[in-house]
Amino acid sequence: MRTVECIIKNGDCLTVLQDYPENFFDLIVTSPPYADCRAKSYGGISPDAYVEWFLPRSEQFLRVLKPTGTFILNIKEKVVNGERHIYVIELVLGLRQQGWLWTEEFVWHKKNCHPGKWPNRFRDAWERCLQFNKTRQFNMYQEAVMVPMGNWAKTRLKHLGANDVIRFNSQVGSGFGKNIANWVGRDKAFPSNVLHLATETGNRSHSATFPRSLPEWFIKLFTKEDGWILDPFVGCGTSCEVAQQLGRNSVGIDIMKEYVSIAQEKVSAKQMLLCEKKVHYDANHKR
Ligand SMILES: C[S@@+](CC[C@H](N)C(=O)[O-])C[C@H]1O[C@@H](n2cnc3c(N)ncnc32)[C@H](O)[C@@H]1O
Repeated sequence: MRTVECIIKNGDCLTVLQDYPENFFDLIVTSPPYADCRAKSYGGISPDAYVEWFLPRSEQFLRVLKPTGTFILNIKEKVVNGERHIYVIELVLGLRQQGWLWTEEFVWHKKNCHPGKWPNRFRDAWERCLQFNKTRQFNMYQEAVMVPMGNWAKTRLKHLGANDVIRFNSQVGSGFGKNIANWVGRDKAFPSNVLHLATETGNRSHSATFPRSLPEWFIKLFTKEDGWILDPFVGCGTSCEVAQQLGRNSVGIDIMKEYVSIAQEKVSAKQMLLCEKKVHYDANHKR
């Protein structure tokens, strides 16, 4: 049986990663503390000191990521004194100076967010997923995240105009072009860079987990089976759990012992389940 490794480690990712070789991971997908938003649960970093705190850690990420690999950073700026603090923007600049390419930005739209209103703003229903790479030649498996064509195709592709049957270049000079006719008869399309994913509310053991569907999407897009995933701020193990399910190896690190125990329990329970399924499958196929 092909075994998938899933290693959960306790400690500061800055020191734990020093034991890992260069160019080891295919994907880093993580959600670090959003400055001091959850200071009561797992400590926090003042937004003014955030970049200084983050950069030594991202230097390790840069070292352990393969040249073809990708780093996805799920983060959001907090409000301080009535305005958005700019630590995320400063972090992007700092990461670029450190040698990262800021290749893309995805928006995670929390589609089940409940309504809310504050004196000067509405409910925050989206977060950033920033993509960084070491080189422009990174691996990307776009077919793995294709989505059903949707209803737009039924009307839009019914009557094609003259510009729909040729490659029609954008008139704003962006270099983008499209040939609408290419989509006739297809049942799947490529998604946009806005991910409409519901938050999961059932997790009582950690106050800031992301939904499984978030790492899942990026793991499928940027890795193949047997690849290696790193989550340096793994919390209670969501990324590792998903990696394991998708047949990828993973390393998760968290500074809080209690989260590490939860993550370890979760992945070993899943490992047993996967083994049972495999035994069941093998038994049925021997008959
Ligand atoms: C936003 S939470 C991550 C939640 C995770 N995505 C999940 O689904 O459970 C950030 C995590 O970073 C951890 N953390 C904070 N500083 C750390 C450090 N220096 N090294 C490793 N983990 C750290 C916190 O304990 C916390 O669990």
